[in-house]
Order: sequence, then structure tokens, then C-alpha cells
Amino acid sequence: MIDLKKTLTKENPLPEAVSFSLNGQWSHFHVAPSRRLVDLLRLDLNMTGTKISCEVGRCGSCMVLMDGKPVNACLVMAYQCEGRAIETIEGLQDEKTDDVQGAFLEEGALQCGYCTPGMIVSLKGLLNENEDPTYDELKQSLSGNICRCTGYGGINRVLVRLSSESATREAGNGGESHQRL
Ligand code: FES
Ligand code: FES
Repeated sequence: MIDLKKTLTKENPLPEAVSFSLNGQWSHFHVAPSRRLVDLLRLDLNMTGTKISCEVGRCGSCMVLMDGKPVNACLVMAYQCEGRAIETIEGLQDEKTDDVQGAFLEEGALQCGYCTPGMIVSLKGLLNENEDPTYDELKQSLSGNICRCTGYGGINRVLVRLSSESATREAGNGGESHQRL
């Protein structure tokens, strides 16, 4: 759990400048104390891979990684990123992320695609801590992500495909096929 609480006093007010690692690059921003991380990303930096929808932490479309863990960028103030490592969908480039993205494409797990970056970020957050998650662990990792168009069939197939149970099944089947729900 990431502790975002800061003790604010007259001597220690909200900062108007913030420095943090953004997709691996140390960055310095001047931001109003009321600026949210999602607005800094989308409006100030034009990094629109992070989506915005409900704005109250319910849909997961704004998910980014903070120190490797998923957080809702609509609920994080920019000043709370001080000293942290923030990763957005634009910065996730590694083998595990490729596997997840490939599974979304091959299983037809998106329609409009608006929820997809947030889901990939959430799954990457799980894989950062657990390289070989079960289906239930994968499903739990998407508990904060909502899709409004696919009906979840394709997304469910992604979870089956990425699960440790699937890897075991594939080994037993000589890697021939993925089981569909
Ligand atoms: S826009 Fe942040 S959770 Fe919905
Ligand atoms: S694909 Fe449209 S909201 Fe999920």
C-alpha cells in the first residue's frame, strides 16, 4: 500500500514544484497544489494513453504505476508524486507488458479500447509482484477496472491465457492450445 499522506504545516506547505521519475526520466514540474496527476499527464504533457472517465476512482481507466503499484491518477495530486517513480502506459515496454498486450489483441479483448491501457497497467502492477499469477489473482487485479463495451468475454480469455494454470495446461498439451471459457 502506498502512503500518500503528507503532514502539512505552515512551515511545510504544499509545494508548487515537484520532481519525480516519469517513465524512467527524472522530471521537474511547476504545478498548482490542486493539479491532479491525470491532468498533468493528459493536459500538460499530452500523454493521453492514460484515460479519464469517472474521475472518482471507480473505473480504472486512469491507472498508472507509482513505485510499481497501480494507482488511480484521477485521485493522486501531482505534488504527491514527489520523489516517486511514475510509469504510464506509454512507458511500459518490456517482455511482460508485450505478453499482456499481445493477449489483448489476439483474444479480441477490446472494442473501443478506452479501458485497455488501464487494464494493462493493472495487470503489469500484479506481474511486478507476482510473476506467475493464478487466474483468480489476475481477476482480482482487475477489480478496479471497468469495461463498458466488450462484455468481458475477451478480457476473461486474456486472464485464462496469462494464468499459471494455463501455462501448466499448455505444458501438458505440448503447448498446442489455450483453453477458452
Ligand atoms: S477516471 Fe480515474 S478511476 Fe475513473
Ligand atoms: S473496450 Fe470499450 S470500455 Fe472496454
